[in-house]
Amino acid sequence: MWTTQAALVLLSGFLHVISAQDEAEPNIERQVDDPDTGRTMRGLVESKGYELEEHSVVTSDQVVIQLHRIPYARNSGPSSEPNKKVVFLAAPLFCSSSFYIDDFPNNTVAFIFADSGYDVWLGNTRGTPYGIRTTDGQVHDEKDRQFFDYTLIDHGVLDIKSQIDYILERTGSQSLSFFGHSQAAASGFALLSKLPEYNSRISAFASLGGFRTFGCNFKDPALNTVWRSMKSFAKSVQFFSAEFNWELMKQMCYNIWGACKSLLAKVIYGPASMSNHTRIPIYLEHYPHSSSIKNLLYYIQMQNNACRNDEHVYEFDYDDEDIITSPTSPNARTNEGTYGSRRPPALPVENIRVPVKVYYSEGDTLIPPSNQRKLIESLPNVVGEYYIASKDFVHGNFAHSPFNMTHIHDTIAFFDSYDSNAQAKPAPVNVIVGGSGSGNEAPTSCADCTIILTRSNSTQNSSSHKPPE
Ligand SMILES: *[C@@H]1O[C@H](CO)[C@@H](O)[C@H](O)[C@H]1NC(C)=O
Ligand SMILES: *[C@@H]1O[C@H](CO)[C@@H](O)[C@H](O)[C@H]1NC(C)=O
Ligand SMILES: *[C@@H]1O[C@H](CO)[C@@H](O)[C@H](O)[C@H]1NC(C)=O
Ligand SMILES: *[C@@H]1O[C@H](CO)[C@@H](O)[C@H](O)[C@H]1NC(C)=O
Ligand SMILES: *[C@@H]1O[C@H](CO)[C@@H](O)[C@H](O)[C@H]1NC(C)=O
Repeated sequence: MWTTQAALVLLSGFLHVISAQDEAEPNIERQVDDPDTGRTMRGLVESKGYELEEHSVVTSDQVVIQLHRIPYARNSGPSSEPNKKVVFLAAPLFCSSSFYIDDFPNNTVAFIFADSGYDVWLGNTRGTPYGIRTTDGQVHDEKDRQFFDYTLIDHGVLDIKSQIDYILERTGSQSLSFFGHSQAAASGFALLSKLPEYNSRISAFASLGGFRTFGCNFKDPALNTVWRSMKSFAKSVQFFSAEFNWELMKQMCYNIWGACKSLLAKVIYGPASMSNHTRIPIYLEHYPHSSSIKNLLYYIQMQNNACRNDEHVYEFDYDDEDIITSPTSPNARTNEGTYGSRRPPALPVENIRVPVKVYYSEGDTLIPPSNQRKLIESLPNVVGEYYIASKDFVHGNFAHSPFNMTHIHDTIAFFDSYDSNAQAKPAPVNVIVGGSGSGNEAPTSCADCTIILTRSNSTQNSSSHKPPE
């Protein structure tokens, strides 16, 4: 019932987007003659010459999460030893592990890592098809309001935590490299804030289009419009921990394909120069997935805090007047009852001590450079920045950028420099590509610079994270 309401509200947002913009539309056909059509995740991976393993991890609250693993380089398993360096690719909002495997060996995140000597573990979160069961055998659906009672913080402290524990135990490795795109970085930061002992289990953290919190507005008026409709929808739902069901949205997407194309192109894939538009129907077979209404409300709370010029990141605010919970709702809760305080506690940023490299782009309208610079200032141990000056490089291109994976090769070099299993090599130094000035300058006004890659001098205490000398 509320899903129909959701559909209508979102539809109006989409339609607004399409009517508001008539710039070059990507020419995407729904049906393409592509051998990957209809393939499962396993089919996609195996057809490209890689082995895929599936592992089940149980969280402390009994949710079963499927973890995927690509342990060997192309055409080299399974008789050999798994790769030694361990990387965890954490899945962003509305995505699963499939987000990192759906192109070709030369242009897919997971495959490039595998071919660079990494034992690749592809994480998942609850609410997606790979995290929808509990140990009692139940498969949860949108009617189950207890199950959909989570935010991105829970993805960090429950889902990602359990997966890291499992991976380290299984591989015998002391620590792993953390690849966090978008919400996955936010969940990783939440985990490190709340459970600082995980700092020693992550050797290096790449935040790609990542965030701890949002800015007050998006950089793009159309996105703000869609966001407003999502907000009124989320507020109209009586139970905050319902499922935010993207399966329905997907169906609608096919019906209003034009509007969906604009939105996807705008935020996830970018113009045809950045993304393979004929391939989008393949991507859409594995994406998007559901999240929870509560998580959506949490995004709204983050943005409201930013609009109040509050830079802190808080736990979910149960006393938020925008949340209409009926007293009989299983979710009726207060801050006092939950946290023992009137206001939700802030997540302590000073606990995030791992070496972080921040990847951000001029064309990212969701988490624009101004927000990324605030993130960089707030984090205690940023050891490098990677700025992409292109306005065409949009938010989703950090994960899907089939014609240019330079930034992914950079994350690998970054992880290698902190991975004790990597060949000892000199630590990266300040490098400027196509620009001028010293590498430590924030790229505020360098029209001609393509990338600025800095490695700040480490004033922070990172004794356990030093690159091998
Ligand atoms: C683009 O997509 C088409 C159709 O799926 C595919 O045949 C082609 O190989 C893709 N090109 C690249 C560079 O990924
Ligand atoms: C991958 O290969 C395809 C086909 O040769 C090419 O069009 C594409 O640009 C390549 N992508 C990268 C990131 O090298
Ligand atoms: C590839 O992307 C990088 C930024 O990651 C940029 O510096 C470089 O110019 C791009 N290469 C091409 C051929 O567009
Ligand atoms: C690092 O930076 C600090 C403060 O800017 C400075 O005092 C220190 O000498 C620098 N250390 C190195 C090794 O450059
Ligand atoms: C710095 O590292 C040393 C040695 O590992 C440790 O004893 C000390 O508590 C650390 N200091 C801070 C501020 O983290």
